[in-house]
Amino acid sequence: MLSVQQPDTNKDVDVAVFYGTRPQIVKASRLVAALRTRLSVVAVDTGQHYDYQLNGLLYEQLTVRPADLFLEVGSGTHAQQTADVVVRSADIISSYKPRCVVVVGDTNSTLGAALAAVKLRTPVVHVEAGLRSGDPLMAEELNRRIVDAISGLLCAPSSLAAATLASESPSGTIVMTGDIARDVLQANCSRAPSVVSIAGWPFAQGAPFIFCTLHRAELTADMGTLRTVLETLDNLPVGVIMAVHPRTRGVIASLDFQPSGSLVMRDPLGYLETVACIRDAATVVTDSGGVQREAYWLGTPCVTVRGETEWTETVKCGANTLVAPRAVASDLPSTVARSIESEREWDRDAYGDGHAADAITAATCTWLGA
Ligand code: UD1
Repeated sequence: MLSVQQPDTNKDVDVAVFYGTRPQIVKASRLVAALRTRLSVVAVDTGQHYDYQLNGLLYEQLTVRPADLFLEVGSGTHAQQTADVVVRSADIISSYKPRCVVVVGDTNSTLGAALAAVKLRTPVVHVEAGLRSGDPLMAEELNRRIVDAISGLLCAPSSLAAATLASESPSGTIVMTGDIARDVLQANCSRAPSVVSIAGWPFAQGAPFIFCTLHRAELTADMGTLRTVLETLDNLPVGVIMAVHPRTRGVIASLDFQPSGSLVMRDPLGYLETVACIRDAATVVTDSGGVQREAYWLGTPCVTVRGETEWTETVKCGANTLVAPRAVASDLPSTVARSIESEREWDRDAYGDGHAADAITAATCTWLGA
C-alpha cells in the first residue's frame, strides 16, 4: 500500500523533481533550491535508499528541506523497484499535474519517474544526460539511454556528453549546463572536518591513507572478484579506509572475509566526512561516479575499479586510472603506487564552473516559456 503524505490535489505545480538514492539526494540539495527561485516545485523522494546513512544523514548535513513526498519504494529486484517507482510516481504526477518532471542521473528511480511522466504526457527534463559507459548490459547505462530517448530537455554535464547526445539525434533539446555535483562540493567543502575527527578514525594524524568505496553490481555480483579486490586492498603497503555500502556489506558477510592487514572497513560516511577523506587521501580507489569527480575537483588522484567510465574526461587529463575488476590482483598495487606519486595538476573545469543548478533552472524556464 502506498504510504505517502496525501498530495494536495488543488495545487498544480510547475515542476515535480524525483530523486531517491544517495547521490541524487546530494544533487537535489542544490537543484530543488535553485528551481524554487523561479518555479513552483514539488520534491519527491522515492525512498530507493532508506538507510539513515544513505538518506536522512544527507538531508541533515546538506541542510536540505525534506522532500514534500516520500514514496517508500525501498529495495527489490530491478523490475519490482522500477515498477513501484512508475506506479507511485504516476499517482503524484496525476495529482499535481506538473508542467514537467525533472529526473537526475541513471538509477531505477530516474527511469521509473521518467516513464511515469511520459505515459501521462508530461514532458521530462533529464539532468546528467548524455553520459555513456559503452557497456550496454550495465543497469545504469540502460536507464540513462532510455531516459535520454524520452526526455524533452537534456541537461548535459559536459561538452562531451552534449556532443554524444547530438550524435544520437534525440528528439529533446540539448543544453550543456555543467554538473550539479560541483555546485554541491563548492558550497560545502569548507565544512568538511579534519579526517582525524571522524568517529573511529583508524590512522595516526598525518599518516597517508587510501580512501575506498565499492558498490557496483558488476563487482558485488562476482564474489570471487570481490574477494580478490578485498585481499589486494588488505595487502597494500598503505592503510586503506573503506566506507562500505549496504549492498557490498551484505556480500562481504557471505564471503566470510576478515581483513588482517591494511584494510579497515567502516559503515557509509556522511557527505562531509566523505569529502574530507577524498580531500586528504593519498589516492582514492572507487567504482562510484560521484567519488571519481569529487577526487578530480579536489586534486586527489583516483583509481577506478571498472573496465570503463562515463566520466572519461577525468581519465584523459590524468586524474583517474581505470583497473578492470579482473585485473585487480595484477594491476591494482602498481597502479595505486603510481597514482600516489603522480602530479596533481590537471584542468578541473570539464564539468562546468559550479553553477549548474542555476543553468538547469534557466534552461527549464526557457523551455517551459516560464
Ligand atoms: C543505486 C544505483 C547506482 C548508484 C547507487 C548509489 C540503480 C540501478 N543503481 O545502486 O547507480 O550509483 O545507487 O549508491 O538504481 N540497500 C540497503 N539500504 C539502502 C539502500 C540499499 O541496505 O538504503 C541495499 C539493499 O540490499 C539493496 C541493495 O543495497 O537491494 C542495492 O540497492 P539499490 O538501491 O538497488 O542499488 P544501489 O547498489 O544502491
